[in-house]
Amino acid sequence: MYKKKSLFITFEGIEGSGKSYQCQKLYKKLKKKKFPVILTREPGGTLGAEKIRDIILQDYFYKNKKNQFGKYTDTLLYLAARNEHVENKINPSLSKKKIVLCDRFIDSTFAYQVYGKGVKKEFVDYIHKHILGKAKPNITFLLKVKLSKAIKRIKKRKKRNRYDKFSKAFYQKVQNYFIRIAKTKKKYVILDNTKDTDETEKIIYNKVIKYLK
Ligand code: TMP
Repeated sequence: MYKKKSLFITFEGIEGSGKSYQCQKLYKKLKKKKFPVILTREPGGTLGAEKIRDIILQDYFYKNKKNQFGKYTDTLLYLAARNEHVENKINPSLSKKKIVLCDRFIDSTFAYQVYGKGVKKEFVDYIHKHILGKAKPNITFLLKVKLSKAIKRIKKRKKRNRYDKFSKAFYQKVQNYFIRIAKTKKKYVILDNTKDTDETEKIIYNKVIKYLK
């Protein structure tokens, strides 16, 4: 028997780590078993937050650096999108005891903006304190990947975004930050998702089912 309880699961990792693929796999499996599950993403997830996503991701394509957002503008936009998402989708769904799967969440802000760009952690923590409410992940899957494999996966994509052009060194740095964050608490599950097998999706599914029992 499964208990009816809210569950907030986030997926984190660099581009090409296969997290969006794994989210969808888990979503489909839980849906098939008739669990009340929703799949969402950050930045985005609601109409307003998706509009902010477009603004953020478009910004990178400005050739002249002077026209690009400053790191605090960028961070505030991610946080603004998060506020919309948490208030209008994540928390209402958790209140209805749904399972919420989210492709990226707060750890992406720590890995990319705080560690990657040098935005002050206290700044992000302060805003989170005011906007998250009950939106605290119960489980976070961090998908690790060999850099050469991540780049292969990125190159196969039709749609590119701002980070798709960053160097291998940048991705390596961000991945190391993710791993550092993930080693701090028990709710993190670090999985190597370099191989294109169904091993990762099985581990993820079993972990979630165990939590629901
Ligand atoms: P993705 O959803 O296709 O993975 O891409 C979204 C991009 O946004 C990705 O490059 C990581 C970036 N991002 C941040 O830099 N900070 C954040 O807080 C979030 C949620 C995403």
